[in-house]
Amino acid sequence: MSRWVSSALLGAGILALIGAGVAAAPKSAGHAPRAEAAKPLGIGREAKSDEIAGWDIDVRPDGKGLPPGKGTVREGEAIYMQQCAGCHGEFGESAGRWPILAGGENTLGSNDPVKSIGSFWPYASTVIDYIRRAMPFGNAQSLTNDELYAVTAYVFYLNDLIKDEHFELNANSFKSIKLPNERNFRDDDRDVAEKSLWRKSPCMTNCLPGPARITGRARVIDVTPESGKGPKVE
Ligand code: HEC
Repeated sequence: MSRWVSSALLGAGILALIGAGVAAAPKSAGHAPRAEAAKPLGIGREAKSDEIAGWDIDVRPDGKGLPPGKGTVREGEAIYMQQCAGCHGEFGESAGRWPILAGGENTLGSNDPVKSIGSFWPYASTVIDYIRRAMPFGNAQSLTNDELYAVTAYVFYLNDLIKDEHFELNANSFKSIKLPNERNFRDDDRDVAEKSLWRKSPCMTNCLPGPARITGRARVIDVTPESGKGPKVE
């Protein structure tokens, strides 16, 4: 299920907590007694499955969530020129100040890293997911599934990740596309790898001697206006 849906459920949980908090307040403050907190709050209703489906559009690296459909690089070129090149440039080089979609290979370790799909992004699925969810900018989610596959294939082509303009991108063939920077992404394993460092109470042995010393103040680097010098706020 999409993380959007999860956060909607989380939101509902927060509402429930607020409800419980109010009910748990002392009686003298005029709030409902605790027993009443168990009653449903009567807010909202359960989401219908087609409503959930509308939000549940995430695509995962293993392909879970990919829509049906297909499109070739060549078909994608026409869509790209019409709906994307105006902002991202004919070769993904960017028109003006819009984001680039290609280039920047081997720059991540430099002083001026250029992050593009080819140089930085982790998975082919991330690109499909993003374009499906957010592009074209200002008219998001207007592409059909076939247009989505075609234009994404063209974006991969611009990044030299597909060489053949007859290549057809679909839920199966996407597996053959590996982004060069994938190896530098890994799952967050801190809950296992750093578990031994977690403590309930802070370590208070071998502490540095003496009182804490302030080594810098925000005012010195001019991020906090001195009193009387900042703009007047009514
Ligand atoms: C009106 C200008 C505009 C058009 C047209 C447009 N985009 Fe974008 N695109 C943007 C902007 C702005 C962002 C950055 C959005 C953000 O960061 O929230 C972006 C981001 C992207 C990104 C992510 C780039 C990155 O590395 O962060 C991709 C991929 C992308 N667009 C693909 C497309 C495709 C494919 C189309 C055509 C179907 C398209 N865009 C049409 C403006 C546009």
